[in-house]
Order: sequence, then structure tokens, then C-alpha cells
Amino acid sequence: MDDIDYRKEIERLKSELDVTVAVHYYQRDEVFELADIKGDSLELARKCQQDEKEWVVFCGVGFMGQSVKVIAPHKRVLMPKVACCSMARMIDSSYFDDSVDFMVRHGIDREDIMPITYINSDVDIKAKVGRMGGMVCTSSNAPVIIEKALSSGKKILFVPDRCLGQNVARQMGVKSCVIGEEGCEPKDADIICFDGFCSVHQLFTVSDVEFYRRRYPGIKIAVHPECDPSITEIADFTGSTSQLIEYIKGLDEEQKVAVGTEYNMVHRLRPKNTYILSSTKPECPTMNETTIEDLYRTLKSIEDGEPINEIFVDEETVHYAREALERMLAI
Ligand code: 13P
Ligand code: SF4
Repeated sequence: MDDIDYRKEIERLKSELDVTVAVHYYQRDEVFELADIKGDSLELARKCQQDEKEWVVFCGVGFMGQSVKVIAPHKRVLMPKVACCSMARMIDSSYFDDSVDFMVRHGIDREDIMPITYINSDVDIKAKVGRMGGMVCTSSNAPVIIEKALSSGKKILFVPDRCLGQNVARQMGVKSCVIGEEGCEPKDADIICFDGFCSVHQLFTVSDVEFYRRRYPGIKIAVHPECDPSITEIADFTGSTSQLIEYIKGLDEEQKVAVGTEYNMVHRLRPKNTYILSSTKPECPTMNETTIEDLYRTLKSIEDGEPINEIFVDEETVHYAREALERMLAI
């Protein structure tokens, strides 16, 4: 294996096969550089749906590959590593049912619950949400989706990311609470959040923000909405990965900025005046699992007629998960 020039071989395989390589911004540089399409989770889902190639090799985490399979079931989707986002792992079907039961026990009728799942969740959760008439959202469209959901007059059950739920609630001026936290009373809140979180975005702290502001007066602080509300409240800008890229591109060259999101994306952003908002390297372990060798092996498996790590989702799950995803895409 050692004497293979992976880059060259991957370029050859891409030119000979009917395949698109889709890569999330958080992937390692060696993989990112070989992407046909790049983006945040929403952009990648849309672009893969519109793409005409038979095969998608998706470099990201499991729920992203599943989402492509759900909205474009005719495609063959392979993942070089079927790595599971740690936040997505925090909720399963029984925790979801327990959360619905919690709201019912607190006096909310089942029919009055509108579940919304962040795209960072397993396909089974999306299907559960779809069955209940709910929707998916991503970090870039969460405010629009939640606004739409609130206009139905229902209570929102937001899973699995409590930070995104609370951040959007604050931005919209509505009330939220987190299941399991003292005083969480669904009758008094508009958005009832499940208690999940991203272990990577929890690394950014108020002390980090204070440190950078002391060290570089005038520095901008830009963070992802998976950060704790104590951070987003004091940041200058909060946005999804694509929104962060746009914001930073729009800054004057001399403007310093400290960014609170995954390391691989931040270090590629700008050669100068850009800092990681943490004293710890905030790498997403599951995003980092995919290597150039994995990408090569996956493409080669198509050429050899023995595809590896293919994503399969049963028809019923596709049906309901698709309803939840399409309600989002329609907005
Ligand atoms: P985006 O939706 O911004 O791509 O975020 C996905 C993610 O996993 C962030 O941690
Ligand atoms: Fe999941 Fe967090 Fe990694 Fe994003 S950064 S894929 S939310 S663990």
C-alpha cells in the first residue's frame, strides 16, 4: 500500500468512474483538497441531490451520508468511514419517545407537539420526527424553520442539540428550557430542548473570549451556534460553517478574528489575523477519522465492483425521514 500515490490514483479513479466526492468543511486537508463538492451539511445535501453521477463518496459523518440516501434514494452512497457524530449518538428512539412522554406528562397533548431535529441525528430520529409532522433543520436555517414551526401554534420539541435550540430561542426572543434541567416546564416554554450537545463546540469558554479580547482589543469573536449560549451571547457573530466563512471573508484584511468552530476549517480560512478560540485544538474526532487512504480504498472498491461502506436505509424509514427533510428543503 505504501508505494501508492493516493492523490494521483484518486484523481484517476474520479476521472474514470461515474462518481462525485462530497466533502464537509471539517474534513482533513488531504481529503478536502480532493473534493468535487464542498460545503456545510445543508449545502452538501442539496448539491448531492442535484448531482447527476450514480455514486456519491461522502466524506463526513454518518448522518450526512444517510441524509443524501434519504433525499436521493436512487444514488449509491459510500462513506470512506462511517463515523458517527458524538452529538447524533446522544439521542436514540427511546430517548426521543421519553422526551415526548415528558411533555405529555407536563400537560401538552401529543398533537400539540411539533418535533424538530437538527440534521445531526440518526435517520431513525428523522423518521420519528417525520411521522409526527415535524421537520429537520441545520445550523444555517434553524431560525427560519423554528419560526415556521412556531407559527403553527404548537410547542416545539427540539432534538438533540440543546445549545442550538437555546441560541435560536434567544435570537427570536422566545422561551426555551432543557429537559432534565431544574424548572423545565413545557407549559411555560415555546421550545423544549433535549439535553444533547457537541463535545467539540463545548471546548470554547467565556474565559477564551475574555482572553482574546484582553490580548487583542477590537478582535471579533465568531462562533458556531453549537457553542454554549454563554458564548454566543457575547460573540460578535454566530453562524453555521458557511455563514462563518462568508463573515470572515467579508472582514478587512487587518481585522483580527477568533473563531469558535472545528480546527480543520478554521486553519484554512485566512492566512493572517485568524485565531482558534481555544487553548485546546478543537478537532472533531469523528470527522478526522477519514484519511486519504480511506478515500482511495472506497473509490477503488467501486472500480473493483465490490463497493464498501455503502449506506442503506429501509424504505419505511426513508419515507418518513424524507418527509421531515423535504419539509425543511421546501422552506
Ligand atoms: P454545519 O451544518 O454548519 O455544516 O455543521 C455541521 C456540524 O456538524 C457542526 O458541528
Ligand atoms: Fe458532531 Fe460536533 Fe463533530 Fe459536528 S463537530 S460532527 S456536531 S461531534
